[in-house]
Amino acid sequence: MTPKESWKKLGYVDEPVPQHTDLAAAIRQMCKEKNAVILAHYYTEPAIQDVADFVGDSLALAQSAAKTDADIIVMCGVHFMGETNKILCPDKKVLIPDLNAGCSLADSCKADDLKAFIDEHPGYKVVSYVNTTAAVKALTDVVVTSSNAQKIVDSFPKDEKLIFGPDRNLGNYINSVTGRSMLLWNGGCHVHGQFSLEGILQLKKEHPQARLLVHPECPAPIQQIADVIGSTAGLLKYAVESDATEFIVATESGILHQMTSQCPDKTFYPAPPEASETIGCQCNECAYMRLNTLEKLYNTLKYEWPEVMVDPAVSEQALKPINRMLELSK
Ligand code: 13P
Ligand code: SF4
Repeated sequence: MTPKESWKKLGYVDEPVPQHTDLAAAIRQMCKEKNAVILAHYYTEPAIQDVADFVGDSLALAQSAAKTDADIIVMCGVHFMGETNKILCPDKKVLIPDLNAGCSLADSCKADDLKAFIDEHPGYKVVSYVNTTAAVKALTDVVVTSSNAQKIVDSFPKDEKLIFGPDRNLGNYINSVTGRSMLLWNGGCHVHGQFSLEGILQLKKEHPQARLLVHPECPAPIQQIADVIGSTAGLLKYAVESDATEFIVATESGILHQMTSQCPDKTFYPAPPEASETIGCQCNECAYMRLNTLEKLYNTLKYEWPEVMVDPAVSEQALKPINRMLELSK
């Protein structure tokens, strides 16, 4: 189907959905008819997670895309996740509900700037977080996620000179747990950078038994008071397996949907953001992830647009460090 000019301007299909439609049922029906699979990140809204075939962290989503035999992958997450799927599955149609679903962390590292930095540091290998564009991955030796970064960095000889980017907080954390001094790119995520240390300490005082779960994209002072630091999947696993019954969660609040459904007898408190007194501020929600709505997902499947495209030459280069990551994660 040829996309309308108005859709192209908006970056998503702007068509009314039929009134009184059970959107979730209609979406599942289209998946069946079109042999499509829906992958969703833990930060998407609950309705999206509930309709998806698979919900996971960045690593699990890439692994899931690599092995699917569906003809269409709909990635409910952000653009770099769609790109990773397209690079892994160049012959499949990869759709995302809204092309505007970017990532402030990926935006903090432009390929040209990274190229200049690499040229200034000959002899360094480049380790890039998965939250990067395909063009950045094409300049990279190995991709990592927060689930496997420590293991993959450890796989390099101790004296290997490494550049790590773009997240400085994850980079500092990996330096501290591996005893390395990788050169760090000074990038960060706007969601994880805004949690209030004072607010979290206050919450800990009110709930002294609560364990503090922290994503490694959070700044060091918050990591230092954490009971556990991990990827979204790691934090969820900890909550499920822990004897504790109360948890403070310092990552995007979408993960609370899985935590509360998998642990109905436990209590989860979202960590407060700095600006929580701002009226209407949903500061611990990723505005990009929340661009995925059931209506847009319905239209994306119906019209098979927007499609994620990656320049084939870039894709060929970017595939190598992604495959290396998948190999090292087994
Ligand atoms: P995870 O790999 O832990 O799912 O994190 C992805 C992400 O975007 C964190 O902000
Ligand atoms: Fe990017 Fe931050 Fe959103 Fe994760 S939470 S997708 S790092 S902007």
